[in-house]
Amino acid sequence: MNTKTDPPFSDQAHTWNQRFAAPGFLFGAEPNGWLREHAAVWSPGERVMCVADGEGRNSLWLAEQGLNVEAFDIAETGVAKAHSLAAQRGVTVGFSVADCDGYAWPEATCDGVAAIFVQFADPPLRERLFTRMVSALKSGGRLLLQGYTPRQLEYRTGGPPLVSHLYTVSGVRGSDMRSLSRGRCC
Ligand SMILES: C[S@@+](CC[C@H](N)C(=O)[O-])C[C@H]1O[C@@H](n2cnc3c(N)ncnc32)[C@H](O)[C@@H]1O
Repeated sequence: MNTKTDPPFSDQAHTWNQRFAAPGFLFGAEPNGWLREHAAVWSPGERVMCVADGEGRNSLWLAEQGLNVEAFDIAETGVAKAHSLAAQRGVTVGFSVADCDGYAWPEATCDGVAAIFVQFADPPLRERLFTRMVSALKSGGRLLLQGYTPRQLEYRTGGPPLVSHLYTVSGVRGSDMRSLSRGRCC
């Protein structure tokens, strides 16, 4: 992967706070479609952690399916909107404003982790993040991870313009996920 030519992906909090400050929901108020299709890997009552969930669309929907959900994001404007939407919909989610490096991650107690388009992470941060996500899972817990491959750079329809942030099957199954033996990856 080409990391030498990548410009720094600076100040994520500022960038996302500005994006989420616009009226409405940047990615909609409905959950990610792929997450919706695969969420049956978890059963009502199970504990699921939603990583970098922005304005809360995924965590709220998971909670509406009867899961016990915690979610965090670095952008306080996004998390504030998630709180409002949760109140409107009468749903409870344990939201936090946190950087993924500073979040108080649970250890081996989650049935699931959902990480949908968390490609803000460069390779060193991704390795720390993936290690935390997998460590949060109890034995047999399931991780749902969705992200773009480098082909997305040809389509130019979103996602980081940095190849080093994108996923390959070998990267995700290999070096990025060295500690996957605790849980299962879908
Ligand atoms: C492409 S959005 C995806 C949001 C959400 N997962 C969804 O599917 O709607 C990326 C999210 O990552 C968050 N983010 C960026 N850097 C972060 C960091 N270091 N720690 C936690 N969240 C971060 C942003 O605030 C933003 O909400």
